Amino acid sequence: MAYADTLPKQRGFGETVRPDAWWLQPLVVFLGFSAFIIYSTWAAFQGVGDIHETIKTGQNICSYWYGGNGANYLSPFYSQEIWGTSPHAILGAALPSWWPAWAPFSPAFLILWIPAGFRFTCYYYRGAYYKSFWADPINCAVGEPRKTFLGERYFPLILQNVHRYFFYLAFLFILLLSHDAWKAMWFTVDGTSHFGIGVGTIVLALNAFFLAMYTFGCHSLRHLIGGFLDSKSKAPTCAKAYNCVSCLNTRHMMWAWISLFWVGFTDVYVRLCATGKIPDFILFKF
Ligand code: FES
Repeated sequence: MAYADTLPKQRGFGETVRPDAWWLQPLVVFLGFSAFIIYSTWAAFQGVGDIHETIKTGQNICSYWYGGNGANYLSPFYSQEIWGTSPHAILGAALPSWWPAWAPFSPAFLILWIPAGFRFTCYYYRGAYYKSFWADPINCAVGEPRKTFLGERYFPLILQNVHRYFFYLAFLFILLLSHDAWKAMWFTVDGTSHFGIGVGTIVLALNAFFLAMYTFGCHSLRHLIGGFLDSKSKAPTCAKAYNCVSCLNTRHMMWAWISLFWVGFTDVYVRLCATGKIPDFILFKF
């Protein structure tokens, strides 16, 4: 008998001896990611109408920022806002001069590529969407649709290594979103600021917290602060930092999903308040 005949035969696509519902997890991931991508794309485009209406009418129109009752809630999809119609916009309600006149503009377009790129190249998400979107493999011990897999050491998947650079940018976003949550704790009444907590404050603060739990469990951060050239650091502070990140990293999938859901929910909440669909309740204010 030839040696090749003694080797296990490659299974056809979807063939398996697994008795469990192995298709359920990739299906849920596919539906969850698809829903988020569709919603976030829709939400990002809402800023196009806002800025054009504001420029045309001179009235401030903003569907991603809520300022009723002196509140100051900005949707995380629009933070940091550079040009835009909310008071958070650094350069005000104008279109950047270099932006092509034919192209739609939304403040979200300038920044959403950063969290999107961070998640797209995340080690957890890669494993999840390779299964659910590319079916390669569709799940463990289940036949694959393709015969070759070059891995992430070759083009194009080698580009996923850009993740560590996205981490640096994502870290800045944690600071920005925490600052937004801080601003959401101040309510302006008759020109003076009062400390308070509204439902929106809690929503924004939880958003920053969940995103921090996800970001600080990043594999790249663990490598960055806890080791050097594939060996764990002997310095006590670095070793401790490594263990802290590892602690979050063991629940990286959980934080990835919680933060993904909550960032979408935060945009929904701010949008519903801003468009007058629901009221925001101030729990207390000094
Ligand atoms: Fe998931 Fe870096 S590995 S955020």
